[in-house]
Amino acid sequence: MKELLFHTTVQCFSMDELSADDLLLIEKAKAMTFSSYSPYSHFQVGAALRLADGQIFGGSNQENASYPVGLCAERTAFFYASSAAPDVPPVAIAIAAQTGGAFLPKSAAPCGMCRQALLEAETRFRQPIRVLLYGTEGVMVIQSVSDLLPLNFDGSDLPSTNS
Ligand code: THU
Repeated sequence: MKELLFHTTVQCFSMDELSADDLLLIEKAKAMTFSSYSPYSHFQVGAALRLADGQIFGGSNQENASYPVGLCAERTAFFYASSAAPDVPPVAIAIAAQTGGAFLPKSAAPCGMCRQALLEAETRFRQPIRVLLYGTEGVMVIQSVSDLLPLNFDGSDLPSTNS
């Protein structure tokens, strides 16, 4: 028997330690929470995705009375960006969440489906996507979505893409 160990580094920054680019992306993610349609969860999430050419696309969570129909903020932003600029790699995503009129002290991390969706862009463009999680207590930074999804499944596992 052997063990495989997976290592994830999460860097914790205060706002004044961040670059101007990162601060801008976080401000966009925070602003996007206000366009959330979340009458069921009352949990407003905003995401902002930066592309390699500097464009920024925002998204917020969009819910539905048929709950699984809804979409998270991260995939809303990512699919918006990928539709508008399909050949430009994403390089960073910032996420912010608020509920009850206040931003969370530690932001929500992306759900498994959003990690899977973003991972495919990393694989496709061979370019890591930095993840910035905004909270009022500080910002957590993960250098690659793959760090958040070890032992992942991707297209190379499918016979149709190998033949
Ligand atoms: N949600 C997101 O938009 N992103 C996350 O990272 C976590 C969860 C949304 C989905 C749903 O609209 C609400 O938050 C509660 O789960």
